[in-house]
Amino acid sequence: MSSILHKDSKLNPCLETSNESGNNSIIDLIDQRMLSRRGFLKGSVGATAGATAMAVLGSSVVDGLTNYAEAAPPPLGAIGFTSVPVNKFVSAADDAVTVPNGYSARVLVAWGDSLTSAPNWNPAGAMDEATQLHCYGAHTDGMHYFPFPGPLGNSRGLLVTNSEYCDPPLVNNISPASVYTTASLTLDMVRAQQAAHGVNIVAVGKDWSGKDRGEWEVIRNSPFNRRITGNTPCQISGPAAGHPSMQTAADPSGTAVLGTLNNCAHGYTPWGTYLTCEENFNGYFGSSSALAATNDEKRYGVTASGFGYRWHEADERFDVNQNRNEPNRFGWVVEIDPFRKNSKPVKRTALGRFKHESAQVVVDRDDRVAFYMGDDERNEYVYKFVCANKLSKSPARNRNMLDEGTLYVARFNGDGSGQWLPLVWGQNGLTAENGFANQAEVVIKCRQAADRLGATMMDRPEWAAAHPVTGEIYLTLTNNSRRGNTPASSNKVDGTTSAGGANPAVDAANPRPDNDYGHIIRWREAAGRVNATTFTWDIFVECGDKATTKVLGASYNKANFSGINPADPDFNKKIYAGNINGDDYGAPDGLWFDKEGRLWIQTDQVGNATGDWVNIGGNVMMCADPATGATRRFLTSPKNCEVTGVVSTPDGKTMFVGIQHPGEDWDLGGFTQNSTWPDSGINGPTTASGLPAVFKPRSGVVVITKDRGGVIGT
Ligand code: FEO
Ligand code: CA
Ligand code: CA
Repeated sequence: MSSILHKDSKLNPCLETSNESGNNSIIDLIDQRMLSRRGFLKGSVGATAGATAMAVLGSSVVDGLTNYAEAAPPPLGAIGFTSVPVNKFVSAADDAVTVPNGYSARVLVAWGDSLTSAPNWNPAGAMDEATQLHCYGAHTDGMHYFPFPGPLGNSRGLLVTNSEYCDPPLVNNISPASVYTTASLTLDMVRAQQAAHGVNIVAVGKDWSGKDRGEWEVIRNSPFNRRITGNTPCQISGPAAGHPSMQTAADPSGTAVLGTLNNCAHGYTPWGTYLTCEENFNGYFGSSSALAATNDEKRYGVTASGFGYRWHEADERFDVNQNRNEPNRFGWVVEIDPFRKNSKPVKRTALGRFKHESAQVVVDRDDRVAFYMGDDERNEYVYKFVCANKLSKSPARNRNMLDEGTLYVARFNGDGSGQWLPLVWGQNGLTAENGFANQAEVVIKCRQAADRLGATMMDRPEWAAAHPVTGEIYLTLTNNSRRGNTPASSNKVDGTTSAGGANPAVDAANPRPDNDYGHIIRWREAAGRVNATTFTWDIFVECGDKATTKVLGASYNKANFSGINPADPDFNKKIYAGNINGDDYGAPDGLWFDKEGRLWIQTDQVGNATGDWVNIGGNVMMCADPATGATRRFLTSPKNCEVTGVVSTPDGKTMFVGIQHPGEDWDLGGFTQNSTWPDSGINGPTTASGLPAVFKPRSGVVVITKDRGGVIGT
């Protein structure tokens, strides 16, 4: 791998247009970009799939998103690749990313690759905090590409990605993995893990150094490159800021918190910022002494043992008995300005506290702005936040749009209609007598508030995606082993149900018991307005395995499944086979529309082609036509990984895709027991590490292009 250090900054357009202090020069350019992109996108979308609908309805487009059309989306007619085969990992060569003939995938950046002129991490040893602070984080997840202004944006930009979590034994170089539970743990080891979390802001460029045959690479000396970690100072804003439940001994103001954690999926705003969504924050907290968990702590899954990170043993901040309110300061959507390096991330509490999984923006024809969000735990809810103010043409006036607005939770009715129930203090029982003294308590105890409103328990809401022409929202429901299980129960209206503890009956929006393979639901707002309080919905697809021999377990209630007679000899097949029009897949998670309306679906199952996945194989990225449902397998992945995070350049000719936790579940066989990706050599000389041997599997981002150029997917 050639060096990508670039000593002559004049040759680096990134440096020419940037200003580390974040003052006006670059911001002005970005503002111009947004205005010019608005015009560009009107033209580009109008020239492709959306031409007719756009002309008839006079839609406006903001940064790739449109307001609603009442018409159905036109068929794409433009999924042009041939499906790649199922990956069943029959040989070592299958521990790889595979894309269709005519496409290439290579690794752009992986965990431990340096983002500065300092050396890469050497994965032969342990990661330390100082090294991790200048290197790409662990377990990459949601991502967005912020192009540089003008035509340059198709070859230069900021790739902003989440580092959701880490594998502590990989970070601390402890093998076998099971030893970690009893290993001596120091604060330095915990600090390295915390630094592996958060967000990566990475300047990337195509043929940037002029030496690499037109390939994409990290611009290592860009002043934009930044790591935000589990210890980066963040601001708390919105209704919960300063509330007593947000105050700690270290922060009596309740407005300043260290770090962001479990940054799973993401969002972006039309005013040019990135949103990172805190998901399973509860797992980092624990207690060295007995914990008498409150109902509020149980509802969010805060326990004495956490997920086994053991941070509380070395870092008192994560000991719940010592810092009772610290968990309240996580579980938020965090806004980051990627172009202002010294800006503080802001936790926007108006969007509610739960296990956030993506925040998908839609702007309607009235320039109203909404963000659609899932709470990813079994039996949790779908939310939207509608900004109080309309989108302004002045990005500066949009800066605090996420502090004022209305948060809603969804009820999906059996007749295909739905309601958005306002999570507003003083309304519908969200009052002091029921435990909500003000709006701060509504957003901090968002799950309990939604319980009280009678929201619909869903099968683990993951990502939301907005159709670029119709504005319809699609949302992945990845699975739910508790759906239809016995004894039947629901989230209690008083908020006392433990996280993921209920066994809800099947319903129209979650129609399968033991929903192993998941489904994708979609909805359309009344009159195409994002501030509507009603919507209509249907199920886009029930995922599954057409060749399945899986049998519903005895603890599930067959009679509970209203769609099929329990005596039907094909009962099991009708549950698990799904109705995919094309290649099978399951556990849909990542979801993204490209500008022409292709729906890209990423999966998160065990990823080793065993058990329920013996026919489907490893994890994948699919491409679907939302009008016809036609679905093809575009990408297969290394072993025991998850495919998560996808975005493209504005011209659609370069796609970035995340590969998370390759080789997960290793133990006695050592770090590389299940995968050696991406340094195996199977994938060629891929990452910046350039090391001679394989030491550890590493999460990373691949960049996909068509060998003869062209839009990805055509
Ligand atoms: Fe981190 Fe819900 O996936
Ligand atoms: Ca996810
Ligand atoms: Ca998942």
